[in-house]
Amino acid sequence: MSDKSATLNLGEKSITLPVRSGTIGPDVVDIGKLYGQTGAFTYDPGFTSTASCESKITYIDGDAGVLLHRGYPIDQLAEQGTFLETCYLLLYGELPTLAQFSDFQSRVYRHTMVHEQMLKFFTGYRRDAHPMAVMVGTVGALAAFYHDSLDIADPHQRMVASIRMISKMPTIAAMAYKYSIGQPFVYPDNSLNYTSNFLKMCFSIPCEEYKVNPVLSKALDHIFILHADHEQNASTSTVRLAGSSGANPFACIAAGIACLWGPAHGGANEAALQMLQEIGTVDRIPEYIARAKDKNDPFRLMGFGHRVYKNYDPRAKIMQKTCHEVLGTLGIKDDPLLDVAVELERIALHDDYFIEKKLYPNIDFYSGITLKAMGFPTSMFTVLFALARTVGWIAQWKEMIEDPHQKIGRPRQLYTGAPMRDYVPLDKRG
Ligand code: SDX
Repeated sequence: MSDKSATLNLGEKSITLPVRSGTIGPDVVDIGKLYGQTGAFTYDPGFTSTASCESKITYIDGDAGVLLHRGYPIDQLAEQGTFLETCYLLLYGELPTLAQFSDFQSRVYRHTMVHEQMLKFFTGYRRDAHPMAVMVGTVGALAAFYHDSLDIADPHQRMVASIRMISKMPTIAAMAYKYSIGQPFVYPDNSLNYTSNFLKMCFSIPCEEYKVNPVLSKALDHIFILHADHEQNASTSTVRLAGSSGANPFACIAAGIACLWGPAHGGANEAALQMLQEIGTVDRIPEYIARAKDKNDPFRLMGFGHRVYKNYDPRAKIMQKTCHEVLGTLGIKDDPLLDVAVELERIALHDDYFIEKKLYPNIDFYSGITLKAMGFPTSMFTVLFALARTVGWIAQWKEMIEDPHQKIGRPRQLYTGAPMRDYVPLDKRG
């Protein structure tokens, strides 16, 4: 424990608060005793200056545009590793040996099927339901089937639930897609790697042979790595808060999916592509840049800006490179959406408003173009984000549950409502 401290003067009270340092990154002022010693709360609605927990999983240096998973830079993991390797790293804290990886991989592959009765859920959904609505409902319903991995106090059951989530998300995501287009579900094929299996479940049909394009499979594996975890973002904080009450892991992940769906968060990849389609051509970009800068216009450049990155999102750089690789592999020479995206980025990065507010493209800016080129409908983009982020949610949930100091999350408030007053009977209210 460091001997650094902070002094807070509040009215006549002056208290000393301990200051803690992490391995890297900002110090924290431990305010756990503030209310007890002063009767006052801190106030930080968007958690812009608040650390909600201690974690060893992911670190972001927003000013430098650096993202580390268990200390490994995201570009090295994306360029040299696989998504399942990153899953192991996030869950266990170290890169796996060959033996550890093959054991982990076989455990994941052994859980790719879902209970056959889950198929009946889908017939209850409208075909035009948003796939994220289907994901929230179906993932939450896993708790209705897997009673042998609900006891969060049992480390074995926690690990089984973790493996089941990582393994079954691609199957459920593919089922949501197939249901939306009226095609039959495709069962997992465990002879394929994680990402190729997902592509086959999405795009193969019973009446034709399907060959996975290895370049697209590798590109999608990169994309999953880029989305795997990201510190205490809104959906991860949702999963931690749900888990702090002791809720089962499937319910916690369903809560994370619900939060990710928002356009300010994981829904931005869908919104960014819709924005590029609405802009349509390069000559209309200035109109939208002006709207983004207009305080009276709620329009924002989707895929731009970030709470933590005040520099280029390192994932966006890799995403842009992957985008060009995928379009090249597919022989898409000139994609008008990409032309608009590249020009929009160029203009925005030279505009004083965006420079002053440190608004750079984030991971959602190029992902939509890439996924659309791979054949996914816009409505599936956030589903793929949720598929990849599941391992991050699970790793963070597991870290919280295993923290001996963990307590239920229960923030307080600044109350500005009516003072105490007496009830007035209905016939006396005029
Ligand atoms: C993700 O947290 C994570 O790590 C999330 C994520 C992950 O991996 O989990 O990285 C994934 O969610 C990426 C972000 C995707 N969202 C979008 O692309 C939606 C568009 N971006 C914004 O809505 C916004 O930038 C946020 C929500 C991402 C961040 O918002 P903040 O940190 O609360 O910042 P803010 O809204 O206070 O904006 C600061 C200023 C404001 O201007 P002023 O009121 O100070 O004058 O910048 C402006 C904003 O108006 N601004 C934008 C803008 N984003 C911020 N102006 C135009 N276009 C934008 N995109």
